[in-house]
Order: sequence, then C-alpha cells, then structure tokens
Amino acid sequence: MNLSPPRGTRDFFPEDLRLRNWLFGHFREVARLFSFAEYDAPVIESEELYVRKAGEEIVEQLYAFADKSGRRLVLRPEMTPSLARLVLQRAGSLALPLKWYSIPQCWRYERMTRGRRREHYQWNMDILGVDDVAAEAELLAAITTLLSRLGLSARDVEIRVSSRKILQAVADDAGISADQFGPLCVLIDKLEKVPREEVEAEVAALGIDPGIVGRVVDIAALGSLDEVAALVHDESGGIAQLRRLFDLAARYGYADWLRFDASLVRGLAYYTGVVFEAFGRDVDLRAICGGGRYDRLLSTFGGKDLPACGFGFGDAVIVELLAEKGLLPELPPAVDDVVFAFGPELRQAAMEVAARLRHRGRSVDLVLEDRKMKWAFRHADGVAAHRLVLLAPDEWSLGLVRIRDLRSGEERDVPVDEV
Ligand code: HAM
Repeated sequence: MNLSPPRGTRDFFPEDLRLRNWLFGHFREVARLFSFAEYDAPVIESEELYVRKAGEEIVEQLYAFADKSGRRLVLRPEMTPSLARLVLQRAGSLALPLKWYSIPQCWRYERMTRGRRREHYQWNMDILGVDDVAAEAELLAAITTLLSRLGLSARDVEIRVSSRKILQAVADDAGISADQFGPLCVLIDKLEKVPREEVEAEVAALGIDPGIVGRVVDIAALGSLDEVAALVHDESGGIAQLRRLFDLAARYGYADWLRFDASLVRGLAYYTGVVFEAFGRDVDLRAICGGGRYDRLLSTFGGKDLPACGFGFGDAVIVELLAEKGLLPELPPAVDDVVFAFGPELRQAAMEVAARLRHRGRSVDLVLEDRKMKWAFRHADGVAAHRLVLLAPDEWSLGLVRIRDLRSGEERDVPVDEV
C-alpha cells in the first residue's frame, strides 16, 4: 500500500501542525486586531455554487462528484461563494458592515508547482456593506500587519494593485456588454501564461473584437496612474479610487508595500473594482495572497447585491517564502515539566505530582513506563521541557521531589505541595 497522502495533499505530523497553528495564530490575532468575526462552512458545497461560465481556471479545477443520492457536490476551491451563501441566508437581518474571517481548507486540482498544491488553507477576510475604498485600505492594512508580524518587510513583499474599472472603461469604449465583461477579464488574465494570439482567438469566440487585447496590452504596460488617466476615459472613477487608496495607504503607513500595476486583472470573474495580489520581491514564487472588490456577486446567486471586498491568503506560498528568508520559527513542543519516577513503586506518586502540576496549568509529560534516568534526561531535552521533576525513594520518604531546571541546570529539593 502506498503510504503517501494523495498527490498534492499533505499530512500534518506534530511538527507540521505546530507550524500551521503558529501561522493560523497570527491569522487569528490579526483578524482580532481588526475586529473581524470568525465563521465557517462545510468543505463540501453544491456544485451549482461554482457553475460560472466565464472559463475560470478555478472551475476547471473542481473536485466534483455525486454523492450516494446523486447530488452534485464539490470540495470547495475557495470560500467566497460560501460566504455569499451565508450572507444571503440572513439577507436583511445582518448588521452591516459585516467583517468576517475564516481559515478554510480549499481544494483545487492544480498543476503542482512550488507553493501550489491540491489542498491549501486560505485565510479569508471580507468586508460587506462598505462601498468605499476605505474597506480595501483596511484589508491591505491587515495583510501588511500580518506580513510584518511574520518578520517580512516592504523590501521582501510587494502588493500589486489595480482596478477592474480601468479595463471596464476600455470595454465600455468598445461597446462590450456587462455579461461579456467577466469572461473578458478571465481571458485577459491569461495573457501572462498564454500566447497573445490564443487569447485574441478566445476573445473573438466571445463575440468581442479581438482588437481590444492590443489596447489592453498597451495600457497594461503603463507604469503610473497618470499615464493611464491620459489614455482611458475613466467615467466610473476607478482611477480616482486608486489614487485615494494610495493616499489612505500612506496614512496607515504601508504605502511602500504597494505598487500600481496596470497589468493586474486576477483570474476570477466576479471582481468589479480594486484588485490586488502580493508577491515576494526577489523570489520565484506564485502569489502570496490576492483579493479585490466584488460588488455584484450576490445577484448571481439570485440575491440583492451588497458592496463587498476581501482577500484570500494561502498557507503554502508564505511558508516557502519564510523558509527562503530564514524566518521560520523553531517550534519545540510546549512542555513545562517532565515527571519521572525512579521505579514502579513511585509511579502512583508521580501521577499525583503530575495531577497537581496540571491543576496549576502546567503542561506535564508524565513518563509512563520503566525507564532509566539517562533516558528521562534525553527525553526531557528532546521535548524541550523547562523542568525535570524527579521522584526518588529517599527524597519522597521526606515528602520532597527533586526539580531540575533544564535551562540553568540548577537542581533543588522541594516539598511536594510546593512543586
Ligand atoms: P485566489 O487568488 O484564487 O483568490 O486565491 C487566494 C490565495 O490562495 C492565493 O494568493 C494563494 O495564496 C492561495 N492559493 C490559491 N490556490 C492555491 C493552491 N492551489 N495552492 C496553494 N495556495 C493557493 C480566491 O480564492 C478568492 N476567493 C479570494 C477572495 C476572498 N476574494 C475576495 N474574498
């Protein structure tokens, strides 16, 4: 039998889970600092939640199946449709704005590269009910706060920012309908990976003049908002919003992490406004996180739209980046005391001592078998315990236990009720 987990998935041995918990601890702490409430949803969702005809990669990568009753289900590839489903269930009764976060495991049948897997955990933060880039500014503040806590700086990570409204303005000029806009964005996003002629052919297949691709490529090459403003009739105010977002970023103090990147589109059809994606500056890794505004997602599920924006931040690329920068923490098991009895006749006494210590909130590793003293020392060292608590016959007969501080090497005998 093959003992490896299915290709692209991970086992989490205790040391792996310590690292994961450490990272999730930072996700949770930043969510707390920004006052986001945690929610969750099933990892299995109805396939219809993802039936989007825009040709997105994420839909082609679905883990889809029928259950025993024939229901079409998928392992969720992302959290945003589930969030929309939750919000729609309580439409009208939710206090807005709503700031929610979650750390779901997501599944995508991906081509595997470094940091890209077939399952990943994705920290999501979303704000619904705020129709202003103040919301995006707050989300970007959360991302930079998280990255800083992990030991990274603006020298390590760049967050590229743009707005779909720029592309929307170009599309409006070309008379492209609202229905065609999402699929067009998905195709334009492919320009990085797919030859231009292929993208043009697919654009033409949508019934859109492929000439738009050339125009988009020209705009994508521009380096500043001023240059874009000179070329695009931006009636929807996308450029003004981006200017305000960069201003707000300066107020928050994280402007040096951001760069306007006219070529950024993102591959999900539902974004309508600001989009952003973070990358390591001097490493060859895929995106660390990505998100944007999606003001029209709820109506695609038959509900009333709400202004919305958010991001997803995976657990895989960031760990690769931290490893590369030497920023992964050492995370030994958190044991306070190893309790060890010399000989089986003191085993019960050792249990009492362990119970006493645990009652005081200490983490106790009680040695359960007959072992030599040398083994106990080595073991205590291996689990990085703070103290070794020894029960020996002579001391015990006087009501004493021996405590060895494993950092200083200091040893003393202590009455059992002071242990
Ligand atoms: P996404 O760009 O598809 O956006 O994914 C967001 C992040 O999840 C990526 O930047 C990456 O960190 C991580 N990620 C995605 N796929 C994989 C994979 N196969 N292996 C490892 N990590 C991966 C979304 O999913 C949007 N729903 C985010 C969002 C939330 N937008 C608004 N709210």
